[in-house]
Amino acid sequence: MMTHSSTVRPSQELIEMENRYGAHNYHPLPVVLSRGQGVHVWDVEGKQYYDFLSAYSAVNQGHCHPRIIQALIKQAYQLTLTSRAFYNDVLGRYEQYITEYFGYDRVLPMNTGVEGGETAIKLARRWGYEMKGIPINQAKIIFVTGNFWGRTLAAISSSSDPKSTGGFGPYMPGYVLVPYNDLSALEEALQDPHVAGFMVEPIQGEAGVVVPDPDYLPRAYELCRTHHVLFIADEIQTGIARTGRLLCCDYHNFKPDILVLGKALSGGVYPVSAVLARDEIMLLIRPGEHGSTYGGNPLACAVAMEALEVVKEERLADNAWKLGMIFRERMQHNLVEKTDLVTLVRGKGLLNAVVINEDAEGDTAWNICLKMADNGLLAKPTHGNIIRFAPPLVMTEAQMHECCDIIEETILHF
Ligand SMILES: Cc1ncc(COP(=O)(O)O)c(C=O)c1O
Repeated sequence: MMTHSSTVRPSQELIEMENRYGAHNYHPLPVVLSRGQGVHVWDVEGKQYYDFLSAYSAVNQGHCHPRIIQALIKQAYQLTLTSRAFYNDVLGRYEQYITEYFGYDRVLPMNTGVEGGETAIKLARRWGYEMKGIPINQAKIIFVTGNFWGRTLAAISSSSDPKSTGGFGPYMPGYVLVPYNDLSALEEALQDPHVAGFMVEPIQGEAGVVVPDPDYLPRAYELCRTHHVLFIADEIQTGIARTGRLLCCDYHNFKPDILVLGKALSGGVYPVSAVLARDEIMLLIRPGEHGSTYGGNPLACAVAMEALEVVKEERLADNAWKLGMIFRERMQHNLVEKTDLVTLVRGKGLLNAVVINEDAEGDTAWNICLKMADNGLLAKPTHGNIIRFAPPLVMTEAQMHECCDIIEETILHF
């Protein structure tokens, strides 16, 4: 007979449980975490690690930030979910807060990042029909190669990665794919009068922290304006202070027509996403045409307001900018220039990656990550030979130096 024990199981047993009862849709590092605080996480055996993934940049404010947890608990005792069939007493305050925070007229609240992306595309299509005069059902959205915005059918339909798409067709029509960081390809695709929107990550996170040329984003934005096409910024991973500014687009002084946020919008405690836009775009969706049972629930709204307050009050963008300079400087000087194993370091703020000179078997980056875990630092390869380094933004300078020591020593002794 099965018994439910409250004793902590050792990691091997817990890993086997996941393998036995869960779908095999992930390939985690063999570390079983049971606690987190700030920049640290602990495994079930009590070993402490620096977290250099931050749940794919959802935990920008650090694990279990006391203010965010307090907001969660307080609201959880009060009211958690009403659905949008009724008003609730937090949503309006949140909507005012977040639109003023990011400088938009309106917000449409959703839960996961991928729902935010879908919402943005629906908005762009609707705008294409009602404002641009695109013939019905012929709207197109331009994406770039290497994009990642989630795992739904609409999201994988735009993917250029066979691992995402293979065996899941048929795909969503009305998508156009152009090479990332290629302005002439974008300009050519924009000639089509049926294009309603261009959706892009300012830095491609999942593709391996791919940073475009400095003029790519502002010029792409200008091209969209010229061709009467909406610029949709997917800042789900780059936004909310991660890259050293509140938004990565802020580096280039333009405001996307549609802004999609998720992940750190809740500081990692709850799925909260948001789509922000001007009246002229947002008001094209009318009652009954879009929504979600959990979208805009009072718990999410309370958590998101506190998570954004923390970003502002703790000046996390400035910290990310400063620590990011230290990280890249050290990786460049102590690894790229000292060992053939590391070919490149790139990134902005605290969204960075090092590129490993991969061997024939192609598991060097994975093995380096295993070794770093032994040495107390968690990071994971993306796309084989690229290791992303994205710690919580609440890290101190001394901690960053300690972490760089761990990374450098691990790789130099590999
Ligand atoms: C840029 C970007 N957009 C969208 C998503 C999807 O977010 P979610 O996993 O919350 O659906 C991700 C997730 O990694 C992302 O990095």
